[in-house]
Amino acid sequence: MIDIHTHILPGIDDGAPDWEASLAMARAAVAEGITGLVATPHHANGKYDNPKSIVSELVWELQNRLKVEGVPLTVYSGQEIRVHTDLLEGIETKELLSLAGSAYVLLEMPSSTIPERMSEWVYELNLLGVKAIIAHPERNAEVLQHPDRFQRLVDEGAYGQVTTHSLLGAFGKKIESFSWKMCSDGLVHLVSSDAHNLGVRGFRLAEAYEKINQKLGLEYVQTYRNNAIAVIENGEIQIPHIFDKTDPRKWNFFRKLFANR
Ligand SMILES: [Fe+2]
Repeated sequence: MIDIHTHILPGIDDGAPDWEASLAMARAAVAEGITGLVATPHHANGKYDNPKSIVSELVWELQNRLKVEGVPLTVYSGQEIRVHTDLLEGIETKELLSLAGSAYVLLEMPSSTIPERMSEWVYELNLLGVKAIIAHPERNAEVLQHPDRFQRLVDEGAYGQVTTHSLLGAFGKKIESFSWKMCSDGLVHLVSSDAHNLGVRGFRLAEAYEKINQKLGLEYVQTYRNNAIAVIENGEIQIPHIFDKTDPRKWNFFRKLFANR
């Protein structure tokens, strides 16, 4: 499994505080079957700034330490970029990091609103050949109230990344049920941990996929898993027929039909 959103790098944001914690997180990731992850420290969110040079250096050092310790995990560089006025300039000048050097970037909106320029940014990024993955839209208050506004961003070329903890109920019932609805409505393309530590914000990726298998079926699991691989390999994110919103009920009907056999 590949996890495209983690805070594993030590001491630079609210994720792992030191190397010991980073290595412990890496071991926990491997224990649940994660073979590669993208380190995506917060960037430009008003509290943390983690420029490319710092991220690249720490990723390089973490990878070396993992090699020495014999932990079979590949770490890729990235950033969780809070959308900001200089976003396009940062992308154009390559000051901002994409995920694993691909054409995909991980963007974070404020938790309460969808910024007015969000649509314009998604469009402009597309023109630059850059594809926007929006981190945990299920936790954005405006998306919760107006899912159609997030749908519009998806229609304009954005992708949605839901957090494992949202699907598993750690952020409350409302976000949990909304997350599942976003999955079945085709507004989710990737599932990631957004892991910050080994406690309440751990990985739980294998657990989330297992629950997706139970609730939505194996096709969803395969699609989400393959999409995470597609990100680090700079391939295409797939939106298969199971996400055909013209009539999602028919898939539920077939699923129930087969489940009863
Ligand atoms: Fe994050």
